[in-house]
Amino acid sequence: MIPRKKLIAGNWKMNKTPADGVALVKEIVAAAGKNNDVDMVVCPPFVAIESVGKALEGSNVKLGAQNMHPEASGAFTGEVSAPMLRAVFATHVILGHSERRAYFAETDAFINKKVLAALKNQLKPILCVGETLAEREAGSTLKVVQTQLEGGLEGVSKEQAATVVIAYEPVWAIGTGKVATTDQAQEVHAFIRGLLVKLFGDAIAAKVRILYGGSMKPSNAPELLAQKDIDGGLIGGAALEARSFLELINAAA
Ligand code: G3P
Repeated sequence: MIPRKKLIAGNWKMNKTPADGVALVKEIVAAAGKNNDVDMVVCPPFVAIESVGKALEGSNVKLGAQNMHPEASGAFTGEVSAPMLRAVFATHVILGHSERRAYFAETDAFINKKVLAALKNQLKPILCVGETLAEREAGSTLKVVQTQLEGGLEGVSKEQAATVVIAYEPVWAIGTGKVATTDQAQEVHAFIRGLLVKLFGDAIAAKVRILYGGSMKPSNAPELLAQKDIDGGLIGGAALEARSFLELINAAA
């Protein structure tokens, strides 16, 4: 099997003005813009996407969004569509992040519509799944992850699945500093890999990258990234500083 190229994606969340985002990516591009050993994506807030995208031109760092609406256009106040993201040269889009599920009541069915719309518009979805602390303590982790994964990937073809990225983000590890242990993370990643085999077959499942997200830092990244089914990271806080994001890229190389 061809080894999967690691992917480090930065989810900036509601941080960075256009000027601050451009300043950050200029440091990242200067240090790692020609890096070909690791795939790199930055996901700015909508107001900074076009400026950051221009600053990434000519580099190997790709541009992503943190969300999108499944419709192409229309009366959806405050929303942004896949064609709009493609018009500013985004290649990836984070979908189903736990903060969208929690604060904006996004369901698996709605997230699935977004996944299908992203694929239809040649955007690579980064589909987030993960359990809350209460669900883990109740022993429901695998059941929750299975429901979210199968719900989010409903109707996705084998060909399309090869371009999808999955991010396992235990909610209790996001922004808390309480990173999952390597055993906890690898157990769920291996389970997700098994589900992908059932859904799409061995060959496609072997291609899909499964990122870990939830307090991944330069200090813990090496041991996490050494796990068989951990193919990279979806990074929050550590993506907001060039130094830590670059250290994560180096750890994945
Ligand atoms: O989407 C990535 C994010 O949820 C992880 O955040 O700050 O724990 O790295 P953080």
